[in-house]
Amino acid sequence: MKASPRFIVVLSSFLLLLISTRTSSVQLTRGFYSNICPNVEQIVRSAVAQKFQQTFGCDASILLASPNNKAEKDHPDDISLAGDGFDTVVKAKAAVDSNPQCQNKVSCADILALATRDVINLSGGPSYEVELGRRDGTLSTIASVQRRLPHPEFDLDQLNSMFNFNGLSQTDMIALSGAHTIGFSHCNRFSKRIYNFSPTNKIDPTLNLQYALQLRQSCPLRVDPRIAINMDPTTPQTFDNQYFKNLQQGMGLFTSDQVLATDARSKNTVNLFASNKSAFESAFIDAITKMGRIGVKTGNQGQIRVDCSKVN
Ligand SMILES: *[C@@H]1O[C@H](CO)[C@@H](O)[C@H](O)[C@H]1NC(C)=O
Ligand SMILES: *[C@@H]1O[C@H](CO)[C@@H](O)[C@H](O)[C@H]1NC(C)=O
Repeated sequence: MKASPRFIVVLSSFLLLLISTRTSSVQLTRGFYSNICPNVEQIVRSAVAQKFQQTFGCDASILLASPNNKAEKDHPDDISLAGDGFDTVVKAKAAVDSNPQCQNKVSCADILALATRDVINLSGGPSYEVELGRRDGTLSTIASVQRRLPHPEFDLDQLNSMFNFNGLSQTDMIALSGAHTIGFSHCNRFSKRIYNFSPTNKIDPTLNLQYALQLRQSCPLRVDPRIAINMDPTTPQTFDNQYFKNLQQGMGLFTSDQVLATDARSKNTVNLFASNKSAFESAFIDAITKMGRIGVKTGNQGQIRVDCSKVN
């Protein structure tokens, strides 16, 4: 079973949710629910797996650019693709709450962390233990997201300073960028690189020319903003280390991807992850575990949301 790229929304939401505030005193633990809701991991896993099976679109046909507006992506249901990723969390939450012992005892933040792990594993990636015990926040603002999400045009210094601010190293940052092995983006995030790079170059010279020309075909100048482009053009539905091999060939979709292979300070790590999949996987697990501790609420902070989409 291959992962639908739609599910990467779960992973992105997880990263988004976690880079929120910086307060933490009580530590997360792996066995947090062992007395409260002992089966929580299996319940979430089977809800996520079931959602995988039910969701049509496993062949990524949804992603194909459509010359005549009759492709799968033109179906009105697909205008907002974020729906499926979020629905995975809603389904998992409902499954957890249908168990009387677990009802209203497991936070949405923890369900999201578990669902992220399950999506990675169902896409062919490694499995890892998830630290639990997060409480749900009561505040969500667009401004905090904009301040804390890496921009696709970032250079290495900008990437490092954003991750370092959250206690993550350059190696963590590179490993987490490897999550671009699945998922998609929209043309406007990189169109400058293929049409209007600089006064002297129309195309970003760090971009593989053949890949740039393919991207121009998928993203014509007057592009439908709904068109989705795989971030890993080679194995878009598999969580593997292909992303780093792509970078070695100038096939990083964003400036912030490609810079990892062109800057001398990060290049060696890219080469290591490209040549050694288990080195990538173990660095990714370390990094996502560290990221999962950032800004969490624990103990009696925050709340356990009844409905993940709104504050109680
Ligand atoms: C998924 O996780 C299980 C352990 O829970 C592991 O045995 C399996 O190898 C993982 N899948 C992949 C592709 O690594
Ligand atoms: C690949 O990385 C793993 C984990 O870091 C390490 O144990 C292994 O020796 C490396 N393999 C090679 C061929 O370098």
